[in-house]
This record gives sequence, C-alpha cells and structure tokens, in this order.
Amino acid sequence: CGIIGVLGTHEVSPILVEALKRLEYRGYDSAGIATVNGGHLDRRRAVGKLVNLSDVLVHDPLPGKSGIGHTRWATHGAPTVSNAHPHQAGCVAVVHNGIIENFKDLRDELAGHGIRFVTETDTETVALLCEFYMRDGTSATEAARKTVARLDGAFALAFLFDGQEDLMVAARKGSPLAVGHGEGEMYVGSDAIALAPLTDQITYLEEGDFAVLTRQSLEIWDAKGNLANREMRQIKLENARVDKDGHKHFMAKEIAEQPVAVDKALKAYLSDSGEIQMPEGLDFSKIERLSLVACGTAYYACMVAKYWLETIARLPVEVDVASEFRYREPPVSPGTLALFVSQSGETADTLAALRYMVDKVDVIAGLVNVSESSIARESDVVLPIYAGPEISVASTKAFTCQLTVLLMLALKAAQDRGLPLPEGMPADLRALPGLIHQSLASEAQIAAASRDLAGARDIIFLGRGQLYPLALEGALKLKELSYIHAEGYASGELKHGPIALIDDSVPVIVMAPRDALFEKTISNMQEVMARGGRVVLVTDADGAREASDGTAEVITMPQVPDALAPILYAIPAQQIAYFTAIAKGTDVDQPRNLAKSVTVE
Ligand code: G6P
Repeated sequence: CGIIGVLGTHEVSPILVEALKRLEYRGYDSAGIATVNGGHLDRRRAVGKLVNLSDVLVHDPLPGKSGIGHTRWATHGAPTVSNAHPHQAGCVAVVHNGIIENFKDLRDELAGHGIRFVTETDTETVALLCEFYMRDGTSATEAARKTVARLDGAFALAFLFDGQEDLMVAARKGSPLAVGHGEGEMYVGSDAIALAPLTDQITYLEEGDFAVLTRQSLEIWDAKGNLANREMRQIKLENARVDKDGHKHFMAKEIAEQPVAVDKALKAYLSDSGEIQMPEGLDFSKIERLSLVACGTAYYACMVAKYWLETIARLPVEVDVASEFRYREPPVSPGTLALFVSQSGETADTLAALRYMVDKVDVIAGLVNVSESSIARESDVVLPIYAGPEISVASTKAFTCQLTVLLMLALKAAQDRGLPLPEGMPADLRALPGLIHQSLASEAQIAAASRDLAGARDIIFLGRGQLYPLALEGALKLKELSYIHAEGYASGELKHGPIALIDDSVPVIVMAPRDALFEKTISNMQEVMARGGRVVLVTDADGAREASDGTAEVITMPQVPDALAPILYAIPAQQIAYFTAIAKGTDVDQPRNLAKSVTVE
C-alpha cells in the first residue's frame, strides 16, 4: 500500500495521483483520493490501476488544495470501490497502511452506539471512531489522538477533516511514514520516493509518533505523549529517482544495473588494499553461531549465505523464514549473532522476528537496502547493500547485492576466526561486476528459450549445494512474474518425489556450474531426460562441453570462481522469469496480488 498527503498551494488532485504513481511499485489493487475544498470533504476511488482513478477524476473532478491519497493492497475485504481508501465517516477521511488488529472489538463498541458500517475494512473503523469522538465537540486533533491511542496492530495513518483546509494528522506504528517540508506546503508519504519531486527535506516519523501538520508547521509527539524534536534531513534525490531510464520495465533496468550496483556494494566493504571492512560491532571471534531470518527472495539469499558461512567460516548457521521464526519461540544460546536480511527493511514478519531476538542475542545485525528503515534503526549493526532504489516488485539487484555483502561477511568471519580464505579471495570479488556484465549477454538466447517456456504449465528448477537456493529463487521469480507453476528442488531430492511429475510437457531448468558437485547434478539431469523431460542447462563452457548432449537448450555462463557462482547464476534466473513474463504478456513490474514491501503479517 502507499500513502500520500498534501497541504498544498495548488490544485492537489493531479499531484496526489502523480505521487500515487510513484508508489505503484509497492503493489495495489485499488486507489483513491480525498480533498477538502471550500471546507467540504469529498473523495473519489476506483478499482484496479491508477488510470481508472484518473478516468473517474476526468468525469467527476475533485477540486481542493489539501488532500490525501492511497493505493490499497487488499487485506480485509476484496478490492472494491467501497473498500478502497480514503475511508470517510462524516467529517473525517482516513488513509491507512497496515492492519488494525482490534477492529472487531472497536466495531462492536461503535455498533453499541448505533453506528453503522458500510465496508468490510478495518480502516473504516478508524474513521468512524474519530468521527464519534468529535461528536461532543472534541477537536479534530484530539479526536484523532484519542482514536490512535485505541488502536492495536500496525499502522501508518493520515487524517483529513471537513472544514479544515490547513490541517492533517499523521500517525505511525509499525508502518513507515515520512513528513516532507515544502515552501508553504507540507506533505506526508509512506516513503521518500513518494515525496521526491515535491521536496528533499524529510522528517521520518519514529515508532509511536503522532504528528499534526499545517502548511507552515509540524508538531510531533512521541509514543509517551511528549513533544518530540525529530531531525529534518535532506535526502539525496538520486536515492529517490524513479524512472525506467530507457528500459521497457523497471525490472529490465534493475537487472541491467547489477554490474554497477554490485560494484558499489563491493567498494563499500572492500578496501583498495584488499581488506574487508565491516562496521564495528561485528567481531566473529566471539560469535559461535548465526541465525539468519528473512522473507521471500531475501530468505533465499540467506540460504546461500549458510553455505558460505559454514564452508568458509566454519560457523553453524540456522536459516528461517521470518513468519515461522517469530512464532516458534526458538531457544537462543549465548554467542549467537542474529542477522535480518530485508531489501525494504520494513517487512512486518522480519521486523517482528528481530524484535523477538532483542535482549536474547549478542548482536542484532540488519542487512538492508533502505538505511532509514525500521530494521536498520532497530539493529545494533547495519550492513547496507547499496543497491539503490528497487522499484520492480520482483527483487533482482537487491538480491545480488545482498549476496555480495553476505559473501564478504563470510570472508570477514573466516578472517576473524583465523581461518584461511578460499583461494583467490577476496581479490576475485573484484571480477564480479565484469562477470555479471558478461552474463547479461545471454539475454537474446534466454529470450528465445523463454518463448518456449511460456507455453508450459509446470516448470522445475534443479540445483545442488550453493546452487540449490538459486533453483528456489529461479522458481519463485518465474511463478511471481509469469504465473506459471514452478518449483525448485535440490537435485538430489528429485528421486524422492518430484520425478513423478516429469514428462515431455515439463521443462526442467538445471543450474550447474562445472564445480565439485557438477557430475552429481548431471546424473540427476540424465534421470530427467530419460523420462522425456525437456532440459534447459545453465552452465559454463566446460560444463557445456561435457553435458550438452540430449538437452533442449544450453545457456552458457562465464567461468567463475566457485564462491561467486550463486551471484552470477542469479542473472539467468532473473532473465528467464523476465522474458517468460514478456512472452506471456503479464504485468512484469507489478505482478497480480503481490506487494513490494509487505508491512502486514
Ligand atoms: C515481497 C517482495 C519480494 C521480497 C519479499 C521480502 O514478497 O515481493 O520481492 O523478496 O517481500 O522483502 P524484503 O523487503 O524484506 O526484502
């Protein structure tokens, strides 16, 4: 979901819609705006893409210079016009990200006062409660304050009031929200990207903050109700630049950016003299084990890191998906470093898992792309990945940058523990950007192969060792983007079930650099071909020479030092998903039902 709010000096509807466009990348299925005009509060909403909202506004314009807007990713209630935000109850309009967990109790309470509901959403309850508090003459600000105090769960909220053209109230608990300062204007946005063209002066709200905005002023109260002095920062506009730079999709741009992004990540941690430099507070001589926690693609980055940390640094590693970890109440022993990996730094489950580990582990580290994020703020040690803004819902450059930093982390851990580094390391790392650049050249071949894949109903990815998580990532990307059912398996597991699925209608993509496990994976590939399976082999020149026979297609990667293979093989995994989606005509940057940053459970 995305939030925008503007107390402006110009007609605000087009400004709100433009800002919502910049938030499209977060994923949504309906959208709406509300304005106050001549003291009158009104709203327009539409299901589906923003063009639908724009159509509504052409036929039924919404004048006014103060407004709020929202893109909704449905949680409570289907994506319908009536469930779309802003929600309005009499003189109050509200936009909301997150989930109000006690909304049923609040609903019952309001129903007891004879108040009726028209939607299935938790957010309507917020508007109704605020309106209820205002009935006895309580001011808008106080009513909003009382309302927010009653809410359990996660939220970022912006309130707009009938008759009050120079007032907006914002609150944050569990979902990010930023205030932007303009010249005689004031804004709120769910991230700096929404606000970027409006201003580069940003105040990030902290957990539990309650803010009252006018065009000229901003007052913030902290979670304890004390007036707070929050820093105003100037954000770098390059960090909020959102354009496709000549590419057809953000995903294509972000795939192509990987040599540069990975180079940036490398330079941040690898000195000219070849030393790996990590932030203070990461001393692996005192660490006995690691617990890695993440969701989605970031989780697969953690799975790769387990191979590196165990083989290179000889440290035992547990990897968990955050939604499981947080409720499992895992016992934690002393000497544990907990590492939370998240592109956005806002994923609700990952953040909750982090909070579970506070006071239980020696060090909490956050490996994030967004340095102002909640996970960054609540970690003892922050490891930025320097990927730059990632707009396409499917993670690409953040994944390769996460892997690059995680590999350097494993090397640093080995150093701290007095262990020898793998031959050629860390110097070989410098080859990565060039290798990624070379592998991007397989684009045309992958595009051709993908036209075939687009006709399949099911696709299987196989990999072994550190390429097993890449098989999982390849399958995740493909299903996210093309809606084709895809699964990744450890090659060795094939004969324990998945092989039953193989016939000539099921393409099997095998990720196998010519490493120590190559022959084992190729045996599994033979088992697939013996049953009529159509194999696409992704390997290097040596691998291609040895194992091309009988395959439908071979995609040849550059030769690569073993430890770097998972990073390099991410590129064909991404390209296969991208070109299959193109061949199927699906929405590459905003696949159906998906959100970029999942700030709800
Ligand atoms: C969503 C996105 C994925 C991402 C995952 C974790 O599912 O669509 O691309 O990998 O969230 O997000 P995070 O920001 O924590 O890395």
